[in-house]
Amino acid sequence: MASGPDVPHHPDGGPAPGVGRADAADDDAVGTAVPRLEMRGIGKAFLGTVVLADVDLTCAAGEVHAVVGENGAGKSTLMKVLAGVHPPDAGEIVIDGVPHTFHHPVQAQAAGVAIIYQEFNLLPERTVAENVWVGREPGRFGLVDRARMRADTQRLLDELGERSFGPRTPVRALSVAQQQVVEVVKARSLDARIVVMDEPTAALADDEVDQLLALVRRLRDQGLAVLYISHRLREVFAVADRITVLKDGRRVDTFSAADTTAGRLVKSMVGRELDAYFPDRAAPDELGAVRLAVRGGANAVLDGIDLDVRAGEIVGIAGLQGAGRTELARAVFGADPFTSGTVEIDGRSRRLRSPRAGIGAGLGFLTEDRKAEGLVLGQSVRDNTLLARRSGAARGRRRAGTTDVEALTRSTELRAASLEQEVRFLSGGNQQKVVLAKWLALEPGVLLFDEPTRGIDVGAKAAIHDLMRDLARQGRAIVMISSELPELIGMSDRIVVLHEGRIAGELPAGATEQQVIALAAGHHLDDVDETGDAVPGGGAPGDDAAGGGATGDATGGEPRP
Ligand SMILES: Nc1ncnc2c1ncn2[C@@H]1O[C@H](COP(=O)(O)OP(=O)(O)OP(=O)(O)O)[C@@H](O)[C@H]1O
Ligand SMILES: [Mg+2]
Repeated sequence: MASGPDVPHHPDGGPAPGVGRADAADDDAVGTAVPRLEMRGIGKAFLGTVVLADVDLTCAAGEVHAVVGENGAGKSTLMKVLAGVHPPDAGEIVIDGVPHTFHHPVQAQAAGVAIIYQEFNLLPERTVAENVWVGREPGRFGLVDRARMRADTQRLLDELGERSFGPRTPVRALSVAQQQVVEVVKARSLDARIVVMDEPTAALADDEVDQLLALVRRLRDQGLAVLYISHRLREVFAVADRITVLKDGRRVDTFSAADTTAGRLVKSMVGRELDAYFPDRAAPDELGAVRLAVRGGANAVLDGIDLDVRAGEIVGIAGLQGAGRTELARAVFGADPFTSGTVEIDGRSRRLRSPRAGIGAGLGFLTEDRKAEGLVLGQSVRDNTLLARRSGAARGRRRAGTTDVEALTRSTELRAASLEQEVRFLSGGNQQKVVLAKWLALEPGVLLFDEPTRGIDVGAKAAIHDLMRDLARQGRAIVMISSELPELIGMSDRIVVLHEGRIAGELPAGATEQQVIALAAGHHLDDVDETGDAVPGGGAPGDDAAGGGATGDATGGEPRP
């Protein structure tokens, strides 16, 4: 688990030598040295819609500058301007005192800007060294100098303190976090002086997040300027020296991380205070009939799964990476079916052998991998929302009448110019809200949510939490997977903990993080109760809504006032 916002900054030493430090909230307070990066008065409009207006952003060598803000605030667009993907309409980019005009990513790369995208472009069958040097292999006598390629790669890996793999390791053998390291090595080999990471932890397993944060700190200590975008405020506070808030394409604040709180940051982002509370849980008399029942569910990953979810109930599924959480949802849905055991939906025994069958049986499954969800990027928000509903999959269950797309998208806090806007022009978080609306349009009786708020901004997160509780109140049965423990604990009426494909135990509403973690690690509940006390009073306002700190659990279980 990453450390909370209260963790002191740079426990492993001060800034890189000779580096101006940001010690005031003032945007330009980076000492007397010329900042590594200055973006001044950046403006950008798409088809007449202003997306960035007069944005200033500076970053010193040896500084981590986080950029935060709501979905659609302009964070990714600002970074794409820096990376030469979108030429700005106004403003200038100055790197080490030299003004630049980028019209192409290659120009930005040559000026020392590296952007690490979420989807990597690595070649899985090639080695790490081959991937780092692909297209610009060092030569000797007309031959590729493999020894030098490997040695240079090894040196860069050493610099980053990476020992878990080497230059000869094939990329296919690497985890997502390790592939991120390869991308960083590649950036270093290109002499990058500015590294941009746009939601780098969105695709990482919980235990990989700490590794990524350590990597960011190393880059900072090596004197790079790092721009870091994330919706998880805990991470932001763990690595950033300064934090800039964008709202509706404008810079509204730049804080020194040491001098601000999660609560203040949230207020700056969403323009109001957010309470740290989750919606009321279901009262016992609000629970109805069992809508989903699994008995003895087993397949290659899972074994002995017994699960009941009632109408009105939200059941959280916890477990470490690889414990089988997503596999459980996929098995219920019919994507990777159980090979033995039974699944009953609304009292009817079902043999679901495909997602299509799952939809037909009244299941909805918001997957963790939104890319595979099949948004049709060239179609409108409205058409995408109605896509699944219009398809044959839901035939028979489809009711007559129209779907109120407007109400659906509003309930997810979607920000789009209009319902006719093509989804490819939406920000990442807003695309995810369309996926959610698409599932809701099908009106499934049983909803499986895998990481429902990943990539969603803090304000919209609270709205989606309320929405999930409303769905339960309307009689839906909900299964929820979330790596953010405060969210899982705050939302669930019951938590089923998986360990190595089996149910390790079940915890009632209001369980503590320690209890969940202990069960997930394979300990017995009896041992857990001894030590499973919540830490009282942890977490600043808004912190839980933002993914919370490790100490945020005491408020996590409280109802909203
Ligand atoms: N190519 C494009 N054409 C038209 N509009 C675009 C384009 N790219 C982005 N936009 C719009 O620019 C705005 C900012 O989007 P951007 O992706 O920068 O947001 P973001 O802050 O990164 O949000 P998120 O947190 O959801 O990733 C959004 O309103 C988006 O719809
Ligand atoms: Mg973005």
